[in-house]
Amino acid sequence: MMKKLPSRRDVLLATAGLPALFAARAAVGATDAPAATSARQSRTIGFASVVAEELSSPLETSGGRPPAGLTGILWRNGPAEHDRFGHRYGHWFDGDGMVQAFAFTGAGVAHRGRVLDTPKRRRETRHGKRVVPAFATLPPGHTQVLAPDDMNVANTSILAHAGRLMALWEGGSALEIDPETLAAGRFVDWAPSVAGVPFSAHPKIGRDGTLWNIGCVPGPRPVLVFYRIDRAGRLVKANVAPVAPLGMAHDFVMTARHLVVMLAPFVLEPDLLASGRVSFLDAHDWRPALGTRVLTIDRDTLEVKRRHELPPGFHFHHGNGWEEADGTIRLDLCQAPGPGFVTRDLRAAMRGEGRFSSAHPSYRQVVLEPNGAARVGPAVPGAAEFPRIDSRRTGIRHDMVFALADGGEGEGWPFSRVVRLEPGNGEVDSWTFPGHRIPEEHVFVPRGEAEGDGWLVGSFLDVRRRVTGLGVFEAMRLSDGPVWEGVLPYPLPLGLHGTFVKS
Ligand SMILES: [Fe+2]
Repeated sequence: MMKKLPSRRDVLLATAGLPALFAARAAVGATDAPAATSARQSRTIGFASVVAEELSSPLETSGGRPPAGLTGILWRNGPAEHDRFGHRYGHWFDGDGMVQAFAFTGAGVAHRGRVLDTPKRRRETRHGKRVVPAFATLPPGHTQVLAPDDMNVANTSILAHAGRLMALWEGGSALEIDPETLAAGRFVDWAPSVAGVPFSAHPKIGRDGTLWNIGCVPGPRPVLVFYRIDRAGRLVKANVAPVAPLGMAHDFVMTARHLVVMLAPFVLEPDLLASGRVSFLDAHDWRPALGTRVLTIDRDTLEVKRRHELPPGFHFHHGNGWEEADGTIRLDLCQAPGPGFVTRDLRAAMRGEGRFSSAHPSYRQVVLEPNGAARVGPAVPGAAEFPRIDSRRTGIRHDMVFALADGGEGEGWPFSRVVRLEPGNGEVDSWTFPGHRIPEEHVFVPRGEAEGDGWLVGSFLDVRRRVTGLGVFEAMRLSDGPVWEGVLPYPLPLGLHGTFVKS
């Protein structure tokens, strides 16, 4: 039976002030200076704009053969147009999104890619210049943004659910994509009450196909929005919870009974954002004294049930979470001591400086007890990011996480390995890419019933040959190296997240 939806008035009340917040007038002389470099040096090839708006090519096998049982499409998304109309964005996360489809037929792999022509991008095409504020860059003479989707670049991840394919961003609506043409469609309107309300990039899907997600709504009275969507793609329930100040929450975990949202003490200053003088990223302030606030939400009622507090830390991604019989929740995440890698390093990378000198995120476990006690476990040594699990374990105990990790070489792009981690034991298996190759997120594709029985599939950028490639590993034998590898005749910009849809 359908639960009662919040009225449009409820959500409007909760999000009051949002349009005003985004209505900041153009500020004169307060823009980020575009970088002078062309970003064509080999070091920055991963942060150069894509070579064409639409691409298509088979991959040339460079080793092994594609597993016969691995058929389907690896969908990926990421910022792809960093430069347009002579203006270069200053941060990796700013660029207009591009969907990539790597189709595995059993005999070979073929690629198609297409830049997502969002309303934001079309507006800039009409103006013949960049005019819309981006996540971390204010183009010179930027204009007003009246609603979150006015600046939605749809560049973060891909969601396949209820027969629809969607490009996700963090601060606005899901964008429907035509799986045949890869053309951008309309923003998904789950219900009138939540039209245009942020829908984050890391939704969780349960075994029955139900999907949960969060949205972070900035404004004078910031709120978190919680969504529950059934397997047919219908919004069953939405709810809001006030949360001030609004800490950055990019991801969350789902257990058998709860959602858990960890708010890093990297908080939005609404007045600063509304002033129009700084970008969305630069309107955030690092306030470690706040600690990391943890909200546990009943996944049926979408009401906040418990609050915990943890020491300060900055994170984007979780692997998974689960709940023990006594209500203790265990979850994992990749956490850094502070936000420097986002505020500094990902800007330096766009300038071609090749330094990544801030403290990197590391893999950790968190325990939340029903009595309110909470603790963060020690970090697994070294950098770890882009954690992925066997998605059949979402919300239940998982024994392994796949991630990118560093090679212990210090500065420079920090990820050179794919690893399999075990919560509690740390790293158990890994494979190191050659030094001229930068691995991107690798996703698990199941084969048998057991956790980890399957393949790990992911792309890499070969900066020496200036091409993007793709590899397939036996997920439980990463150290054997890829069982198949192929390359494209062109490079793709380094991207963010993807999903494999089996056929
Ligand atoms: Fe993410």
